[in-house]
Amino acid sequence: MAPITNGRTLFNEIPTGFPEPGKTTVYDTSKTIDLESVPLNGGVLVKTLVLSADPYMRVQMRQADIESYMPPFIVGQPIFSLGVGKVIRSENNGFKPGDYVYGLLDHAEYSMPNPDVPVFGITVFTPEPGLRYSAYVGAAGMPGQTSYYGWKEYANAKPGETVFVSGGAGPVGSLVIQLAKQDGLKVITSAGSDEKVQFCKDVGADVAFNYKTASTLDVLRKEGPLHVYWDNVGGTTLDAAIENAANHARFLECGAISQYNSKDGVNMKNLDQIYARRIILYGFLISDLAPKWQEEFYKVIPKKLASGELKFREDVTQGLENSGQAIRDVQIGTNTGKKVIVVAQE
Ligand SMILES: NC(=O)c1ccc[n+]([C@@H]2O[C@H](COP(=O)([O-])OP(=O)(O)OC[C@H]3O[C@@H](n4cnc5c(N)ncnc54)[C@H](OP(=O)(O)O)[C@@H]3O)[C@@H](O)[C@H]2O)c1
Repeated sequence: MAPITNGRTLFNEIPTGFPEPGKTTVYDTSKTIDLESVPLNGGVLVKTLVLSADPYMRVQMRQADIESYMPPFIVGQPIFSLGVGKVIRSENNGFKPGDYVYGLLDHAEYSMPNPDVPVFGITVFTPEPGLRYSAYVGAAGMPGQTSYYGWKEYANAKPGETVFVSGGAGPVGSLVIQLAKQDGLKVITSAGSDEKVQFCKDVGADVAFNYKTASTLDVLRKEGPLHVYWDNVGGTTLDAAIENAANHARFLECGAISQYNSKDGVNMKNLDQIYARRIILYGFLISDLAPKWQEEFYKVIPKKLASGELKFREDVTQGLENSGQAIRDVQIGTNTGKKVIVVAQE
């Protein structure tokens, strides 16, 4: 077989603010690959089907010598994220041609991923009947796992309590809303457009508001106090949640996307209330909780997603050449649902 072009999205330069396609990342078609003869050296050759664009990817756009919870992107090398692919060839006994795999994949049409990366090395999976494989980078994958693990581990939810979920329209927030409703809580949630607010209501939120046109403080003062806060955004929203926390509230510190693209910081006015109200803050990463909750997650959640008992939605970008734009969309908030990049059909 003649070599074919292997399109890749490369990390080009560290952004100072929001990532910019064509500047932060560039699409490259200079490399070819011979799928039949490329040496595998004991590894696996994978055709990429879908890739995820996630908020944490902004954290990877940093100087390579700075430590953080995810490895940095390297200038000149392909960026990488969670994805679903199909095995083409394998010299590893754990994989065979035709297998679907989920895990960290290069933003490349074809790659040889390392199965041994902790937690997110590629693993073989069989999609739940009725559930498209792209769901495995969203509600049935890392974002859904984040919601499930964090909620189960830390919410200590009791029927009749009130929870506030910021970033309610995304894959993490929308599943948290549904888990909280199943546990009998009143759910307040925020999102950045009226259309997203409607989606939050559709998945069960009792009170949903557009934080760009309504005052978060006013809503929380009216609808609180908060027994649980699921924080996806950080910044002044976190400060408003502290101001409206009940005594002994649990704060699940999942993310802080309002802070990822700026170094300016915010003026927090209510930190003294953390001790005064005996608020418990749980900062957590999915990777720490995976050993405890992963098996249960895969037994419970994909079935409920397939049956429609749990709702989710995807926002699809077609073509690997557009992955830089997809990544930017998630940072600025123009994604409507789990941002998925479709690289190829099977
Ligand atoms: N701890 C962990 O292990 C873990 C794992 C996965 C994800 N996370 C975190 O969970 C959060 C949600 O992730 P996701 O995958 O569900 O993301 P997502 O909702 O698909 O995308 C991010 C959303 O953040 C919102 N946003 C952007 N800038 C904002 C700002 N300045 N203030 C408020 N909201 C802003 C936008 O929605 P709006 O239109 O509503 O503004 C955007 O759509 C992120 O913070 C992520 O880093 C943590």
